Amino acid sequence: MADKKAQLIIEGAAPVELPVLTGTVGPDVIDVRSLTSTGHFTFDPGFMSTASCESKITYIDGDKGILLHRGYPIEQLAEKSDYLETCYLLLNGELPTTEQKAKFVDTIKNHTIVHEQLKSFLHGFRRDAHPMAVMCGIVGALSAFYHDSLDINNPQHREISAHRLVAKMPTIAAMVYKYSMGQPLMYPRNDLNYSENFLHMMFNTPAEIKPISPVLAKAMDRIFILHADHEQNASTSTVRLAGSTGANPFACIAAGIAALWGPAHGGANEAVLTMLDEIGDVSNVEKFLAKAKDKNDPFKLMGFGHRVYKNFDPRAKVMKQTCDEVLGELGINDPQLELAMKLEEIALNDPYFAERNLYPNVDFYSGIILKAIGIPTSMFTVIFALARTVGWISHWKEMIASGQKIGRPRQLYTGHPQRDLPR
Ligand code: CMC
Repeated sequence: MADKKAQLIIEGAAPVELPVLTGTVGPDVIDVRSLTSTGHFTFDPGFMSTASCESKITYIDGDKGILLHRGYPIEQLAEKSDYLETCYLLLNGELPTTEQKAKFVDTIKNHTIVHEQLKSFLHGFRRDAHPMAVMCGIVGALSAFYHDSLDINNPQHREISAHRLVAKMPTIAAMVYKYSMGQPLMYPRNDLNYSENFLHMMFNTPAEIKPISPVLAKAMDRIFILHADHEQNASTSTVRLAGSTGANPFACIAAGIAALWGPAHGGANEAVLTMLDEIGDVSNVEKFLAKAKDKNDPFKLMGFGHRVYKNFDPRAKVMKQTCDEVLGELGINDPQLELAMKLEEIALNDPYFAERNLYPNVDFYSGIILKAIGIPTSMFTVIFALARTVGWISHWKEMIASGQKIGRPRQLYTGHPQRDLPR
């Protein structure tokens, strides 16, 4: 792994030799772990140049627009796989055989129901609370309901928690939505597949059980696949950091949900629709583009740009195709969706966005599809959290199995040196 060496010259000190680590693909990484012995740390707020861990789950080449899960390109998974197979792949490292897949699907179906008492917990929240606020609370509380298998040092317990989380997230997300609407909660139906069951729990009522559209179920499944994992992003890093302390998996996933909520991360899909509301009409697009370019204005074009993808977001490509399919199938004529398409066209041809490699990201299109499916804006980030849970838990499992030390970054202190109280 470490053939090359890097040499660091620090003025007034002996040169420091640092090993250079090589992964299977991607840039080499300078191993700075021994640097503390010299009395120095590295400074990298925002982690632009820092690998926080070693991982075998997901690989991203931001310049080339490549995203691989366990080596398989996201485009192939989106076209030829389904969400539960992708979950198995992320969790276990290999695609399942037919028998393994059937067993996995069966296991997930066996865990879809949540503890009845969770309903009382749900009723403690205000009905007008943001669904992400309720999600953070409910998922965090799962450890109070499922403490029979919380020994993180037991691989079987880790597996059961992973299955419970993947199985219960759609049920919890739909519960949160139904509660906000004042409608009766719908129990999961194990004769439906993962995405159909989610749409059933979201949109059916005990008074009217309508069949689930296969086009919408397929689009939903694709949204789940495209959001399943994304390497060491802010929420996944949060899950790893929380998990490194030995916290239980439900608490760690609740921390991930909190980190995902921000508009610079998972909250962007909701922010796209809020922004479209604000823009209102195609005639205002130029005005808002000018705001986005103005350095004195905090406004940013939501759904554009990415920390890692600087040419295109491969997920956005697939999502755009799904978006066209869904809009075509539903024959939707929504002025807001037309506005989104116009905004995309104008921004893509604007030199400011071209020079900075700012392209529509996955959340630009996912927001539009979710709206077309009939999912309210406030639930968009919840759907992201539902889909990303498998990525979070896969990273958590990988980290616990690797025995990683507690995460404890250092700092560059620029506050007061020691001083005495003035009394
Ligand atoms: N609108 C206008 N200008 C932008 C935007 C935007 N959406 N994004 C970046 N820029 C500008 C930025 O002002 C900077 O300009 P300059 O070089 O003149 O100072 C330049 O582009 C580079 O941007 P940056 O802020 O250094 O890039 P970053 O890697 O720190 O930020 C980002 C990435 C995603 C936080 C940012 O692009 C952004 O806030 N986008 C809007 C929010 C969004 O859509 N987030 C979802 C990301 S995809 C889902 C996920 O994986 O979580």
